[in-house]
Amino acid sequence: MRISRLQTNHMICPMGIAEDGLRFSFQIAEAEGICQKQSRIQVATAPDETACIYDTGIVVTVTDPATGRILSGIDPLAWKLPVSVAPRTRIWWRVWVCSDTGDSAWSDWTWFETAKAAGEEWQAKPVTTPFGQDTHPVFRRSFIVDKPVKQARMYCIGLGEYEASLNGEKLGDEVLQPGLHTYDSYLQYQTLELPVKQGSNELTFMLGDGWYKGRYGLKRLAPRYGNEYVLLAEIHVQYADGSEDVFGTDEQWEVGRSPVTFDGIYDGETIDMRIAPWDEVSQAVPGQLDMNLLTPRISPKLRIQQRLSAVPVEGCPGVFDMRQNMVGWIAFRCDAPKDTVVTLRFAELMREGKLYRDNLRTAACTFTYISDGTPRMVQPHFTFFGFRYVEFEGWQPAADQIHGCVIHSDMEQTGRLTTSDAKLNRLMDNILWGQRGNFLDVPTDCPQRDERMGWTGDIQIFSDTALYNMDCTAFLEKFMRDLTEDQKQLNGSVPCVTPMTHYYLAGVAAWGDAVTIVPWQVYLHSGDKTILRSSFEGMKAWVDWIKTQTALDGTGDLWTASPQLGDWLALDGNSVYGGTDRGLIATAYYYVSASITAKAAEVLHEQDAADYYTKLAERIKAAFISEFFTPSGRLAVETQTACAVVSHLKLVPEGAQQRVDALLKRKVLDAGVRLETGFVGTPWLLPALTSAGAADLAYELLLREEYPGWLYEVNSGATTVWERWNSIEPDGSMNKDGMNSLNHYAYGSVAAWMYRTMAGIAPAEDAPGFHHIVCHPVPDRRIASVSVEVDTCGGVCRVEWHWAGEQLALNIDVPFSCVMDLQLPDGSAPKQLRTGQYSWCIDMPCLPPKGLDTSWRELMADEETHAVLERLFPRAIKGVAFQNEMYTLRQLTESPFAELNRDEVTLLDAEIKNRQR
Ligand code: BGC
Repeated sequence: MRISRLQTNHMICPMGIAEDGLRFSFQIAEAEGICQKQSRIQVATAPDETACIYDTGIVVTVTDPATGRILSGIDPLAWKLPVSVAPRTRIWWRVWVCSDTGDSAWSDWTWFETAKAAGEEWQAKPVTTPFGQDTHPVFRRSFIVDKPVKQARMYCIGLGEYEASLNGEKLGDEVLQPGLHTYDSYLQYQTLELPVKQGSNELTFMLGDGWYKGRYGLKRLAPRYGNEYVLLAEIHVQYADGSEDVFGTDEQWEVGRSPVTFDGIYDGETIDMRIAPWDEVSQAVPGQLDMNLLTPRISPKLRIQQRLSAVPVEGCPGVFDMRQNMVGWIAFRCDAPKDTVVTLRFAELMREGKLYRDNLRTAACTFTYISDGTPRMVQPHFTFFGFRYVEFEGWQPAADQIHGCVIHSDMEQTGRLTTSDAKLNRLMDNILWGQRGNFLDVPTDCPQRDERMGWTGDIQIFSDTALYNMDCTAFLEKFMRDLTEDQKQLNGSVPCVTPMTHYYLAGVAAWGDAVTIVPWQVYLHSGDKTILRSSFEGMKAWVDWIKTQTALDGTGDLWTASPQLGDWLALDGNSVYGGTDRGLIATAYYYVSASITAKAAEVLHEQDAADYYTKLAERIKAAFISEFFTPSGRLAVETQTACAVVSHLKLVPEGAQQRVDALLKRKVLDAGVRLETGFVGTPWLLPALTSAGAADLAYELLLREEYPGWLYEVNSGATTVWERWNSIEPDGSMNKDGMNSLNHYAYGSVAAWMYRTMAGIAPAEDAPGFHHIVCHPVPDRRIASVSVEVDTCGGVCRVEWHWAGEQLALNIDVPFSCVMDLQLPDGSAPKQLRTGQYSWCIDMPCLPPKGLDTSWRELMADEETHAVLERLFPRAIKGVAFQNEMYTLRQLTESPFAELNRDEVTLLDAEIKNRQR
């Protein structure tokens, strides 16, 4: 047994977190036996048993054998520390686990460190610059250390953004601090280790504008959050002799002019190294900062996660290709002579030998460096770019002197999906890159143009995929804090963008529903109900807000009279809103949110609320059915999205599911197996087709190589996922309607279907966090093999399959302490599996197409069936017009221009069935 990935509040060794609400989680791997029988956690002030401040002792684990749910004992997914710990203290903990066979292990010690106590006085005062708010300041303070130091810490925040250094060295490895959050409701401060030296030390802080003070948000208005550079820093130096020095920012700190003369999230940065900050020094002056809003950091770290090398673009002097659409910046070695102005421009695309920058809209995305003649590594401090290409002007380094610094919030990759199909693998990579590029403290729509905002609809549809791909529990917990804080300003309505900045669009279906769906997905994937508790008021407020709207609109339990964004960017209809009735989408999401709120209430043992929202959901469903179905059970809105929504959510009258499923299939076939769906329909289209028994169509959509489809983008050279299905048109031109981000993760939501259906791995609601795994792989002949791994608290859950002639070979690893309900693809009775490795070889002969309900195209594609057709109906072979190829035999006979009559079709059906026997 090996115990690893010890996390506190879902982060590894978090520094400076609040001392309450602490949760531990860990992973047990390579264990013998099938489940955890006993465990123990020790909490100490040093990595040493003798320093214990709390010891659970040996605790017996009681597990529900049917679901793997831990009924009592220590749950590796989330164990709440029941005692309080001291503020400003590093706390160590380790865990011991023993399995049912007696295999046991201790983990290594891990740690977390607490921030200042809640309500603790600050001995630092907020300060600002006397040079005016248009001049970027640098602050400094020197101090002497004259005796041996035990440890030194700094608790600090700088607004808009800050970068702190001690004795000329940048402190910590984080970037763009304090990150992006709803600064008007809370302000995250950081805790930094100070490696002070004996003698004189100098602390410096550079401040930038960032999201807080600079241009940010869709409206071109003055900064929403603040106009002032503010710095607050409190330093605690603890000496070996037990004494302590505490000092902080005050009017004694010195201020100089920063070499950074401009920064903007959208526009880039300018650094003039000829500016010597300390030529003209002034004293800091009191600054404005609401001390009541200060909160210990909850965000995972935002830092440089990898570095990419560059290659020169042939025929384009000064242009370099990172070979990947990435987010961050370029660091380069610069030895340009004094006064050289080096300008870097960024773009996602090259067109006709030039950077294509039209899709950046008003974002200048330019980094300017003016050299003082001293060679050094150069990079910006307060901005980032979404790009693949960079152009140097004024001076240019060699390619090996350049690298791309990829930044994103800390998120370990926890899902791995590979197939025998190289293009699908590239698609998965593109989806992962989309997540990396847009998970920068807030999940954003895009990272390059003048937007980069936390659009709630985008993360709502992507959250399931995101949580399969990477451990982003802490990241989304922080985001939910932003969302629910903003919600408080809107009387329960939910913003379409959070932090809202100047953008007050709110109360829109599929966007607002992030407040219920995101926490629910986090709960399903992590098994930690903390996020349900902290989001519960917001969930209820949202559903109640919709209810009030419907009452005001007089629409009963239908949400049909409010403005909506509809099926954003769908290909049907003639606007960005798509062709599906927006009231249908809104009412369906109202139903989803009411249902999730009811389920969350159950989990939280809020029985009254559970009953209330269950009943409300039932009423919404009844109203939905009576509005959108004819009395005899026909769906009245016939778009792919309407069918997908209704089929997936089972929002159907009794007995009508099959009819809706058939309609869905027909809509897809009628369109030539092309999807027409937008943000709302796309994530549910493949799941709905699969549960409608048309997984073959779902695969066909996934594997489609022409426009519109995921692999069309791959074939066009995409290295991330685009905003529109046709951001780049088949003729290579850009979509003329604009809004063409090439790094938008929304349509990457298809990966959830790939994990859930190709591999079949899904978390069950009755024991979330993969204690209970539901596994129903749906293989397809067009893909030779699939291998998927999902990290769980009991180690890796692995599903691998490949075709071996007429058989499907399937290998499954069920992790330790997990239970899997397996439905084999041959339709045999479901099995329940405990921890272990399993293999099957299933007979799945490659059957010829089935008959009446098979499309003409499929019949023709099967060699043997083709031969039968040729023999029996040589006329028909030539006769079926190409636009009818998608029709099934049954539909062909029903069509007015049917080339086959009913008798012929019945004969043909019998012949095909006969051959299958
Ligand atoms: C964003 C989207 C967003 C949409 C909604 C766009 O500008 O980029 O991803 O969800 O607006 O209106």
